[in-house]
Amino acid sequence: MSKTNVIIIALVAISVAGIVWWQSSADSASQAVEVNMPSLDATQTAGQKLFEANCASCHGVTAGGTDKGPPLVHIYYEPNHHPDAAFYSAVAIGTRQHHWKFGNMPAVKEINQDDVTKIIAFVRAVQRANGIK
Ligand code: HEC
Repeated sequence: MSKTNVIIIALVAISVAGIVWWQSSADSASQAVEVNMPSLDATQTAGQKLFEANCASCHGVTAGGTDKGPPLVHIYYEPNHHPDAAFYSAVAIGTRQHHWKFGNMPAVKEINQDDVTKIIAFVRAVQRANGIK
């Protein structure tokens, strides 16, 4: 093998490695966080069940996020920045991608306002237990 060939092969190998690294860093969209689960009262437990059925596929069972949606246990979603109205609105009409890179959140049509009230009770309890107030 000539010296030139060795150099060319080395350059190709380095650029392939670079592309693989770039792609894997672009794909690692999950921003999931560790969540401490508090003990929950009856309303919060009802909210947890509704959350698992309707929100967890994107936001995670503990609201800690997945590779499809952000953690709601996050400083962005503290009550001062995203009051309860943001929850009613996100569920009723969805929300456009703005804080993250997961795409838009679609409306969740299967549940009503009372359900969302219980979900909020659950999410706020988990947020408080993780220092987000
Ligand atoms: C198909 C995935 C998906 C599902 C299901 C989903 N969400 Fe979301 N949600 C998202 C994404 C993605 C965002 C982040 C949008 C952004 O800011 O970039 C988001 C953002 C939010 C926000 C912040 C809204 C705002 O004003 O910024 C709230 C609150 C929320 N979700 C609550 C819920 C609740 C409650 C449920 C279940 C009833 C739910 N989501 C189900 C994907 C989802």
